[in-house]
Amino acid sequence: YPKVSKICCIGAGYVGGPTCTVIASKCTDITVTIVDINESRIAQWNSDSLPIFEPGLEEIVKSRRGQNLFFSTDILKAVKEADLIFISVNTPTKNFGVGKGRAADLKHIEACARLIADHSTSSKIVVEKSTVPVRAAESLSRILKANTKPGVTYQVLSNPEFLAEGTAICDLLNPDRVLIGGEDTEEGQLAIAALSSVYEVWVPKERIITTNTWSSELSKLTANAFLAQRISSINAISAVCEATGADVSEVARAIGMDTRLGPKFLQSSVGFGGSCFQKDLLNLVYISECLNLPEVAEYWQQVLNMNEFQKSRFAKRIVETMFNTITNKKITLLGFAFKKNTGDTRESPAIYIAKYLLEEGAVLQIYDPKVDSKQVFADLSGTLSVNLSEVVTVSKNPYDAAVGSHAIVVCTEWDEFTSLDYERMYSRMLKPAFVFDGRKILNHKKLIDIGFHVETIGCKLNNIGLD
Ligand code: NAI
Repeated sequence: YPKVSKICCIGAGYVGGPTCTVIASKCTDITVTIVDINESRIAQWNSDSLPIFEPGLEEIVKSRRGQNLFFSTDILKAVKEADLIFISVNTPTKNFGVGKGRAADLKHIEACARLIADHSTSSKIVVEKSTVPVRAAESLSRILKANTKPGVTYQVLSNPEFLAEGTAICDLLNPDRVLIGGEDTEEGQLAIAALSSVYEVWVPKERIITTNTWSSELSKLTANAFLAQRISSINAISAVCEATGADVSEVARAIGMDTRLGPKFLQSSVGFGGSCFQKDLLNLVYISECLNLPEVAEYWQQVLNMNEFQKSRFAKRIVETMFNTITNKKITLLGFAFKKNTGDTRESPAIYIAKYLLEEGAVLQIYDPKVDSKQVFADLSGTLSVNLSEVVTVSKNPYDAAVGSHAIVVCTEWDEFTSLDYERMYSRMLKPAFVFDGRKILNHKKLIDIGFHVETIGCKLNNIGLD
């Protein structure tokens, strides 16, 4: 099979950036060029402050950049030179037309296909890295083949990415599995082998699995659907716990010891966020409906409904606990990213909570170690009837964010929130001072001893004094 020596990755985002950086670091004989239409994003990749935060990413980028790793806006040049092209562009939920609010918008993927077809003068392996609806590779293949120049051939592979933000580099260096889907033809198998040889440099061969293209595409949607389902399942039980006096952490521990269930991903919380779970579930629901499988669609839709229920239950509890009014009350939000160790706020539950509290008249003081104020204001703008700059402040440290506040709301499970000086926080706040721990990461007994009224997900706490 052809040896891969030049890789182009279209899309320098959360997936394309880390994935191809790791390939460059492991395969130093391959030249990797990551391209994007977004000029400022590419400029950031070439600067000292990278556009995304991932533990360990910066060191690797700095060690390979300018050696065999390049970030560029010259898409045509990189495409022409490459023998293997990853498509890692965004595939957001459509916000218009047929399938609005549910189907995946494949316009960026199609733009890449047309650009590759129009400008390639040599044969290419084209790899779908983005998450796509099942059978998307077929459209990609048809567009390429309908516009092919003489002597040029294409093989389209599906190679979905399973990294999780916050642990992307670890996940890429030591993946549970690498999945490659391709055509069951001689050329298809050769292309699979060529891509596989890239991963084999650092991934044990038994962890690289190959399937037909449609199974590969569907496996990615299925993996995210199952992961999200697990969170919604434990969150559904958390509501039962709150109503009965059971404790969801104890239930999770008890069921997690069943080897058929396993202990991971059983942490109940304010709800899941991130750019993928909701988008991919909506996509699966839409595909199921299109396939005339309404029962399947409804089943997966319920996972999303449960997540909405969880977020709204938590937000309502904040208001109810604070004597049914938060108008003009200062509230401290700890965390704005959708999970720890990332600066990504896409679909973050913190956005939902913040908007809900603002609609109820609260004044927010927000602190997140990796999300800057520009991002917070961008996420909160648009839907609200309030003048944001009057009611939202973004603080550089948690203690400033606590000054004059009635309540602390933990929205993200950042490790540093567990070791804050809560006596100091308490001393800066109005009394009674409340803590709403939406991630179940704090030492609740200690907080109650300090004097806080503490509420959390999935259990009733013995608050003294107030109850
Ligand atoms: P992103 O939005 O961070 O990055 C996508 C990039 O593609 C953007 O920088 C955009 O400017 C660029 N782009 C769009 N159209 C382009 C074009 N025609 N030419 C050149 N560049 C173009 O998105 P992210 O998060 O990296 O996701 C990419 C894909 O990977 C999505 O399909 C997503 O579902 C999937 N995925 C994401 C994961 C995540 O944790 N973020 C994990 C696994 C898969």
